[in-house]
Amino acid sequence: MRKKLVAGNWKMHGALQQNSTLLARITAAASGLACEVAVFPPYPYLAQAQLALAGSVVALGAQSVSEHASGVFTGEVSASMLAEFGCRYVLVGHSERRALFGETEIVVAAKFEAAQSSALVPILCVGETLGQREAGKTVTVIARQLAAVLERVGVAAMASAVVAYEPVWAIGTGVTASPAQAQEVHAAIRAQVAALDAGVAEGLRILYGGSVKPQNAVELFGQSDIDGGLIGGAALVADDFLKICLAAN
Ligand code: PGA
Repeated sequence: MRKKLVAGNWKMHGALQQNSTLLARITAAASGLACEVAVFPPYPYLAQAQLALAGSVVALGAQSVSEHASGVFTGEVSASMLAEFGCRYVLVGHSERRALFGETEIVVAAKFEAAQSSALVPILCVGETLGQREAGKTVTVIARQLAAVLERVGVAAMASAVVAYEPVWAIGTGVTASPAQAQEVHAAIRAQVAALDAGVAEGLRILYGGSVKPQNAVELFGQSDIDGGLIGGAALVADDFLKICLAAN
């Protein structure tokens, strides 16, 4: 039985006071939840979040990581730095990183490997654009994104990783994939991993992301291959985020 994970991706939102209120609400509620909960604040607030989450069951994650261990890479943050600030998880290959910051499949695979080399759990984000879905290429696109990582790190590495399926057309748009559409892709992802290692595939948590809200979370999380959610907009509103966590119970 895979334990569900609800991950709150704050993106480039937050401020000290606002974070403090949100983190207090989440930590107060989290101990009563059956699912695992994680928050992903922007880099400068990791130290604040590490302190606020100390002693709670809420895990900390970062939104990206450098593929390099250290060196002359102005503006970059390494996996070992994230680990020092208490991060357990890190997102790799979020569609905004791929589309807006030029992260190729090769770079995403390198980031995945860098995260694991510092014992972080990478959450590999995959997803198709609307054009790719309309062209009937959804499963092919996702398979290629996943294969780029599998080829670099091998299937055994997926035993300490998470995958997030986020259709690009559903992110921040208010349009959610239907539970059936999401389940179909989640099942394809699991089958691709199962073809290499059935045991790893069975234990792999695959999150759904893209306009998850309290109103649609129960049905999405009820699908057999959906093991929780990666939440953007709704992760900034304590009531909504906690309702989504309850939906994963
Ligand atoms: P959204 O974002 O919930 O605002 O659609 C999800 C994400 O990009 O992780």
